[in-house]
Amino acid sequence: MQRDRAWEILGEFAREERTRRHGVAVEAVMRAYARKHGQDEEKWGIVGLLHDFDWEIHPTEELHPKEGSKLLAARGVPEDVRYAILCHAPFLGLAYTQDMDRAIYAADEMAGFVIACTLVRPDKSLASLKPSSVKKKMKDKAFARSVSRDDLRNGAADLGVDLDEHILFVAEALAPVAGQLGVNP
Ligand SMILES: [Fe+2]
Ligand SMILES: [Fe+2]
Repeated sequence: MQRDRAWEILGEFAREERTRRHGVAVEAVMRAYARKHGQDEEKWGIVGLLHDFDWEIHPTEELHPKEGSKLLAARGVPEDVRYAILCHAPFLGLAYTQDMDRAIYAADEMAGFVIACTLVRPDKSLASLKPSSVKKKMKDKAFARSVSRDDLRNGAADLGVDLDEHILFVAEALAPVAGQLGVNP
């Protein structure tokens, strides 16, 4: 499966700019982790791009991402990609089968949180974002309150990376798409 086709599927269901932007952000992190693990960048990227493709039509844990997975199957999205997408939803309680499954759980919420932290900085710069300031924001319950702090911590732990390292890795991975995310590289 090619990236162009995944982008088409995302466009078919994600009408809101922010849903697509979130896909692009998580894609960038997944590609970077694929490189680190010596794995298929295109495939890992597609997992990131499509993981929330059905959120607007399935905005509940009952439907998302389980029902979405059926739509992806009907569109020929491979099984391992669909399984990894299901793994971004910890409430489904699925067992990891490979690092791609761990990486999407780690990338998803941290990508959003790092962008939120960067947006409130005066320079809006990913490069100058420090893990200590991200962790401080994690303790601030009012900040980006929809982001589960457990998911941020567990994602890194499940992937076997130190939290500080993960924060820096995600910020660096987002730099190439910074322009699309409204932040500076
Ligand atoms: Fe999701
Ligand atoms: Fe997501």
